[in-house]
Amino acid sequence: MIISQNIDLKRFNSFCISAKVRNMITINDDKLITQALSSIDLEELIILGGGSNTLFTKDIYENILFINTSGIEIIKEDKHNAWVKINAGENWDYVVEWALDRDLGGIENLSLIPGKVGAAPIQNIGAYGSEIKDLLEEVQAIEIKSCQKKTFSNAECQFSYRNSIFKEKKNQYIILSITIKLSRNKHKINSSYQDIKAEISKNNISKPSIRDISNLVKKIRRQKLPNPDKLANAGSFFKNPILCSSSFEAVHKLYPDIPHFYLDESNVKISAAWLIEQCQWKGKSINGASVHNRQALVIVNNGNASGRNILELSQKIKKTVIDKFNIKLEEEINIL
Ligand code: EPU
Repeated sequence: MIISQNIDLKRFNSFCISAKVRNMITINDDKLITQALSSIDLEELIILGGGSNTLFTKDIYENILFINTSGIEIIKEDKHNAWVKINAGENWDYVVEWALDRDLGGIENLSLIPGKVGAAPIQNIGAYGSEIKDLLEEVQAIEIKSCQKKTFSNAECQFSYRNSIFKEKKNQYIILSITIKLSRNKHKINSSYQDIKAEISKNNISKPSIRDISNLVKKIRRQKLPNPDKLANAGSFFKNPILCSSSFEAVHKLYPDIPHFYLDESNVKISAAWLIEQCQWKGKSINGASVHNRQALVIVNNGNASGRNILELSQKIKKTVIDKFNIKLEEEINIL
């Protein structure tokens, strides 16, 4: 356990925002979490993983617990599957590569997602037709209030689009590790997402493997999304709104081009990027914060924006989307 005081959080968040934190406790071993929890005021606790989904808008006077535990282990296997337990501080994309190197499939569509494993179930990470909920078996966590360990089954995690019990009950649990079930069939792929289908046919791949899918996902991501190592950002800033079918029909009548996807008979997901683009935000900058010129859902820090500058831009975007479409965008990222 390492305790650091008055440090700048700039290298701990992918927006590269400078913010001071009074007390940061780095945990490299699960066994030290209880000790750390007993030494601080639990009302004043923020848990930080990779910082790839967080916007700091002020200095932090609470304690930050930075989870940095590593370890990936196959805990069970049979002819068809391997059950892999991964500690919360592992880098997500490192885990994807680890699995691909062993011909273990199921997470290849989630290639290049920034962040750490502990955040994956909190916001049910998803991309290109897959979500972590599709292969997650268990989450091992610690309840902050009682310091007791608890295992959550997939159903108990209450997953939905970019949401889970851990997001709903914010700051009640610390995720220690997750267990996922991977497939040993390297040709069992998910090519349901239109962009992937198009790339498979464009590249004439007759029997795509999980490695092919990962490579295509990386290619698509690199075309559309800014690399956070080069241009500071936190991926999608907002969630795609889900409308009930009657509200959707009303918008669709006025805007027949709106990209949409029926989740079931009564719910329709629409593209937030499209809404933002229609409000002429794509590529626009205010005070060092910009709407990315290739993906309108991503706000980038051009180098000198503060957290407040980014927040102000996001609020302006929300206002114009409400004014034009009467649709309220919800943030995907955590604002602190
Ligand atoms: N579109 C636009 N303008 C844009 C970008 C997209 O009109 O600037 C429209 C297009 O019609 C496009 C559709 O939106 O066909 C969907 O675009 P895209 O495939 O890029 O997906 P998205 O809905 O914008 C979501 C996730 C991303 C994930 C991609 C791919 C959310 C909030 N975002 O974006 O996740 O990578 O799908 O699956 O669900 C993230 O969470 O940080 C993230 C990047």
